[in-house]
Amino acid sequence: MTQDLMDMYLKWYELSIHAVKDYKVEGKVAKEALEGLTISGMGGSGIVGDVIYSLLYDKTNIPVLTIKDHKLPIWVRKGWFVIAISYSGNTLETLNVVVESLKRGLKLAVITSDGKLLEYARRHGIPFVKVDEGYVPRAAFPLLLIAALKVLEELDIYKASKFYGNLRVLSDDGIIKIAEDISGFIDGSIPIFITNSKYYPLGLRCKNEFNENAKLISKVEVVPEWGHNDIVGWEGRYSNVKAIILNDGSDVLNYVRHHLRSYGHEVKNVAIKISDDYLTNIIYWSKVFGISSVKLALFRGVDPKKTESINKYKEFMKRSKLARINFRG
Ligand code: F6R
Repeated sequence: MTQDLMDMYLKWYELSIHAVKDYKVEGKVAKEALEGLTISGMGGSGIVGDVIYSLLYDKTNIPVLTIKDHKLPIWVRKGWFVIAISYSGNTLETLNVVVESLKRGLKLAVITSDGKLLEYARRHGIPFVKVDEGYVPRAAFPLLLIAALKVLEELDIYKASKFYGNLRVLSDDGIIKIAEDISGFIDGSIPIFITNSKYYPLGLRCKNEFNENAKLISKVEVVPEWGHNDIVGWEGRYSNVKAIILNDGSDVLNYVRHHLRSYGHEVKNVAIKISDDYLTNIIYWSKVFGISSVKLALFRGVDPKKTESINKYKEFMKRSKLARINFRG
């Protein structure tokens, strides 16, 4: 993994075109009588589940659930389909869900670059998409997303042709300038991203990018829930908190902007609707904020690629009871 993190983000256009052209689901996806869909994954892999949840919110009549934990709810039973995503293929939470899914007789597909998950999928005849190795999970976002879209297409749930036709937005020269402008705004503050439920995955992605790349505490809030609690917190005065509104033009996000300014807070409004295609907006702004967080890391003199604390957490988890899964079975 010798590639520079910035280079990885800069290659997103080429990577996406490659994934659309070359990725395919290996093995046959069982799609008969689909009663529900659940997407399991953590962190940079799990975000794909959030995006799919929001994408399908008003597009399919089967329930869609994201799982960021070791266990599936008790009511997920035969008839449900599980997409398990782990870039490394070694994330304990996701491995636990996969083992449990097989025990419950659920149908699955796996998205990974390698690791135990790939080995397990091969051993059990689970259909899989193998994505390119050598990236960090968060920088492999387009690869993981496109792989998941390929599975949705196999399941006859969604066709992403419009998104694929729009990928050129990722080669836009203006991205660096917009990213620098955002990192300049955030520098020296704790960034709070505010958006609506539909764009929650983008808000979460931005928060995670500033956590992992810039090594900053960052939070995400969504309307309408924001208006029922978080709004009151902004009555306080803080020297280092700034709001970034990921604004798709809805009245309520314009209200948030005016409201926060009226309480004297520094607010950056980012108009995120560059297309009427949801996934296009998600990928474009994920690239902008990814680069922005790397720029801020470099400016702050921290290594954007290293995530030492995640490694420590994973080491701790390996010694926990939850690590005693029978992955050889
Ligand atoms: C993002 C990152 C983490 C991982 C997470 C799960 O770059 O490093 O958020 O995505 O720890 O690991 P994977 O994605 O390998 O399942």
